[in-house]
Amino acid sequence: MCGIVGYVGGQSALDVVVAGLKRLEYRGYDSAGVAVLADGGLATAKKAGKLVNLEKELKDRPLPSGSTALGHTRWATHGGPTDANAHPHLDNAGRVAVVHNGIIENFALLRAELITRGHDVVSETDSEVVGHLLAESFSSCGDLAEAMRQVCRRLEGAFTLVAVHADEPGVVVGARRNSPLVVGVGDGEYFLASDVTAFIDHTRAAIELGQDQVVELRRDGVTITDFAGDTADVRSYHVDWDASAAEKGGYDYFMLKEIAEQPKAVADTLLGRIDVAGSLTLDEIRIPAEVLREATKVVIVACGTAFHAGLIAKYAIEHWTRIPCEVELASEFRYRDPILDERTLVIAISQSGETMDTLMAVRHAREQGARVLAICNTNGSTIPRESDAVLYTHAGPEVAVASTKAFLTQLVACYLVALYLGQVRGTQAGDEIRAVIRDLAEISTAVERVLETMEPVRELARSLAAKNTVLFLGRHVGYPVALEGALKLKELAYMHAEGFAAGELKHGPIALIDEDLPVVVVVPSPRGHSVLHDKIVSNIQEIRARGARTIVIAEEGDETVSPYADHLIRIPVTPALLQPLVATVPLQVFACELATARGNEVDQPRNLAKSVTVE
Ligand code: F6R
Repeated sequence: MCGIVGYVGGQSALDVVVAGLKRLEYRGYDSAGVAVLADGGLATAKKAGKLVNLEKELKDRPLPSGSTALGHTRWATHGGPTDANAHPHLDNAGRVAVVHNGIIENFALLRAELITRGHDVVSETDSEVVGHLLAESFSSCGDLAEAMRQVCRRLEGAFTLVAVHADEPGVVVGARRNSPLVVGVGDGEYFLASDVTAFIDHTRAAIELGQDQVVELRRDGVTITDFAGDTADVRSYHVDWDASAAEKGGYDYFMLKEIAEQPKAVADTLLGRIDVAGSLTLDEIRIPAEVLREATKVVIVACGTAFHAGLIAKYAIEHWTRIPCEVELASEFRYRDPILDERTLVIAISQSGETMDTLMAVRHAREQGARVLAICNTNGSTIPRESDAVLYTHAGPEVAVASTKAFLTQLVACYLVALYLGQVRGTQAGDEIRAVIRDLAEISTAVERVLETMEPVRELARSLAAKNTVLFLGRHVGYPVALEGALKLKELAYMHAEGFAAGELKHGPIALIDEDLPVVVVVPSPRGHSVLHDKIVSNIQEIRARGARTIVIAEEGDETVSPYADHLIRIPVTPALLQPLVATVPLQVFACELATARGNEVDQPRNLAKSVTVE
């Protein structure tokens, strides 16, 4: 939700900021804007639409160069994606520029006050009020950081703010509450950004900004305080991946690159978590073993694709540990007053670690005394910081809006947690755990094999580009895979797509089946779950009898399905519970290719943003 960059240093600040915005465009692409301090004043440019529109504007009407600048790429909340609503927002004298990510919940009241005091509020955004308030405070205290603290104390909601003032050249000030902001530490230069990808070309040294903190950047250093002005504790860290990890690396889209990176991402997520004897070592889960032993239930909270990972985790957790496990959409969780206590283990799954719905669920769970374990891909993000423990997925930066490699690594992390719970609670013998770990260790190669056989899937996707609807069916762990396949198709191809538990079909959705409707069916392994397998074969026959075009994803060697499949997609043999790790991959490729065939923007689907930091 909105990308923010700020810079002060020896380079052309505008170039640094625009390059940073390019890296952050996945966060929102409804409009973009920049402001630079130069020649004793403030120069700005902003344009509706993608960053290219702003770049063109800057080419046609260049701004003066300077060493202090900020920029913003927007995912619209208050006010449509117009030039006027684009950030930065200024005060009426044009001396302050501010960019904002989040929602200022009391903006209507503040706006009314400002109008009474004679301010001319020109946009429909909640953000603009901050520019006017900063100008007022600055005129009395003459210090932008102090003005920011005063203003932040008046704001309600979620915000990352970055501001500059023409009367304080060489200074960039930022603030954060419930929304991300990281400091990049260079040599005589400093950066502020929504995430480290924006400055990874320049430095890998970063400072995590805590909740309710204000940071002031000057070329000779940074000062960080809380909103009251007291010196704040800070955590410095080193980013352990480089710029090339955030580049497309020869692929047309980040999504293609990220799909291709899955074998490595899966292997990396296992790395360091299995000892030489093949046993599990999850020392990073700092929740004491007795707490895990005494847990009476597990509740998983997550959104979107991460929620689907949670649905799959439930099967593994209940099977391996026999602890009841609930999976809940984070956005629904706290509003139904869930029953939680100190014996509840809550697992929050989030790629970004910034999803507001999930963060609020984490806070609610902790307030009720539950222990929270985060499964997260983004080091230093808010959800792991506010959790009792974290298991990081090692997918590397995921830039495409549609989640792929993060999903597979979330699954791996969930399996590890389930096994760990089985280990500490004694519901799984050491041999059994080692056997699953051996199976997990082979998944990376299995995913690689799936990726090598995707050309027919791409061909099939292209042939379906004119369709309006695709249905997805699955049973057991194949059901969340079906949901994930449908979500990918909706968000990328903008097609009506729905995932169903195959057994539910006859309770209503079968009425949707008509002549030539593509129906993707995820078939469970015939080994281990033979009852389920037989049932889904019957389901395939039922839909085929009604004219559907069946696209069947089945294990290598499973010949029973062949007669009923109009298109057969083979996946390697895996243990039943691990099948989602391979069965999801063709569905990602399918959605990506269909979106491309329909001329859609694969990495930046309409109306979406990568990191959803509003509720
Ligand atoms: C879909 C997708 C989203 C995210 C969801 C949660 O492809 O990417 O559904 O999974 O917004 O995001 P995180 O995992 O960052 O909390």
